[in-house]
Amino acid sequence: MPNNAKLTIGDKSYDFPIVKSTVGNDGIDISKLRAETSYITLDDGFANTGSCKSKITYIDGEKGKLWYRGIPIEVLAENSTFTETAYLIIYGELPTRKQMSAFSQKVLRNAGLHEAMMHFFDGSFPFSAHPMSILSSLLNSLGCYYPHMATNRREQDLEYFDDAAAMLLSKVRTIAAMAYRMKNGLPLIYPKRDLGYSQNFLHMMFTEPYHEYYPHDDITKALDLIFILHADHEQNCSTSTVRMVASSGANLFASVSAGVCALWGPLHGGANQRVLQMLQEIHDSGDDGSKFIEMAKSGKARMMGFGHRVYKTYDPRAVILRKAAERVLKIVKLKDPLMDIAMRLEERARNDSYFIERNLYPNVDFYSGIILKAIGMPIDMFTVIFAIGRMPGWIAHWKEVAEQEKGKISRPRQIYVGYDKRDYVKMRHREGEFPSDYEADESRTYTHDSGLIEK
Ligand code: SDX
Repeated sequence: MPNNAKLTIGDKSYDFPIVKSTVGNDGIDISKLRAETSYITLDDGFANTGSCKSKITYIDGEKGKLWYRGIPIEVLAENSTFTETAYLIIYGELPTRKQMSAFSQKVLRNAGLHEAMMHFFDGSFPFSAHPMSILSSLLNSLGCYYPHMATNRREQDLEYFDDAAAMLLSKVRTIAAMAYRMKNGLPLIYPKRDLGYSQNFLHMMFTEPYHEYYPHDDITKALDLIFILHADHEQNCSTSTVRMVASSGANLFASVSAGVCALWGPLHGGANQRVLQMLQEIHDSGDDGSKFIEMAKSGKARMMGFGHRVYKTYDPRAVILRKAAERVLKIVKLKDPLMDIAMRLEERARNDSYFIERNLYPNVDFYSGIILKAIGMPIDMFTVIFAIGRMPGWIAHWKEVAEQEKGKISRPRQIYVGYDKRDYVKMRHREGEFPSDYEADESRTYTHDSGLIEK
């Protein structure tokens, strides 16, 4: 394997070191590119650019593999729980029994909110507020209530990391449940000390006055599985956002709050909500999916839940979620026509050159919404569920940035394609901008908007 990459520009050649990976793509270290060549790179959407070295997650997009800390997602989906997987992703190893018990207790103890935060739910937000907006606001506000964990002084923020991580993991679901309750005019339900992670969340979401809700085990397992499958995914848009914010020295709460905002976009975590809306529209229009596929191929529609920047085959999470969706629908004895439409779309796309040529397959969002709908989750909470699941990944990546010896702030360059320095003295001397008797004077300099400043 070569140790260097050679770049030739004109009649000059340059060598750049190759950075070896454990598995997957090796990289070309171009940190000296600009200094040596005066050139920079351009890579739309960073599709070919590694922003960092990381030990947390590995994806093989060609073979449809996903590993958390080297363990295949299929193994964790089958044998682990969300809190155990969260520990693995954050701390790098599966916990011992003792570590797991201590971690679970810490997460449990942190489930409640600071009583002053409860006022956010008594009218501070309009009922129409999207829960992702509430979530990003309240996650960032944790730094107000627990300032000693959010000092933006790295050493201190790292000293309190374990507490802040457990707090985020636990409170993200409490905030989510309370946002849902507030939006629907329901009394707020406090977390219980004797319920598991996903069970507690469903309890807080769906307990009715005079009827405590305790979910069926299979429903709890289905939600736990969704959380496991969403827990991390390399340098996706929201995780890269968390790392970017963390690189400035910002605390964990502020960084994950920014991650929530990035995740909300319909091309990213917002897709699961859009998938269900797409399936519902297809169903309501009486289309069997054929018309929609033609619209997607002609660019008039986007097949939400399909395609992926990295996976060029089935997203392994979609494979697991499709089976889980069929299982949950059987448990809740629901014949959901949207599931039939989803499977028909998948079947047709699998045999259509437009999708095959572009490597468009179902991604994690294609079936997750079917499951969430079957367990009674309202559609505007779908992306919130994604955020709860992704929390361990965001926490782990913040830690990986924070623990770097000489962490550099992320600050990409650009290729400027705007105006050359224009002779804007004449431009500003347009009719009516200055008194008619004013003479443009080359020696004077201008600020952009306030007119003249004397030299
Ligand atoms: C997630 O990065 C991650 O890891 C994200 C994620 C995670 O766990 O964090 O996996 C979670 O965000 C999954 C993706 C959820 N988003 C969607 O389902 C939205 C629908 N999918 C797309 O918008 C798209 O596939 C992306 C955004 C996922 C990927 O976009 P790319 O890699 O930038 O690809 P592209 O937009 O350049 O598309 C390449 C071609 C284009 O056609 P041509 O211009 O070559 O003719 O494929 C077409 C696109 O029009 N295409 C689609 C399509 N996705 C791509 N055509 C129809 N339907 C689609 N869904």
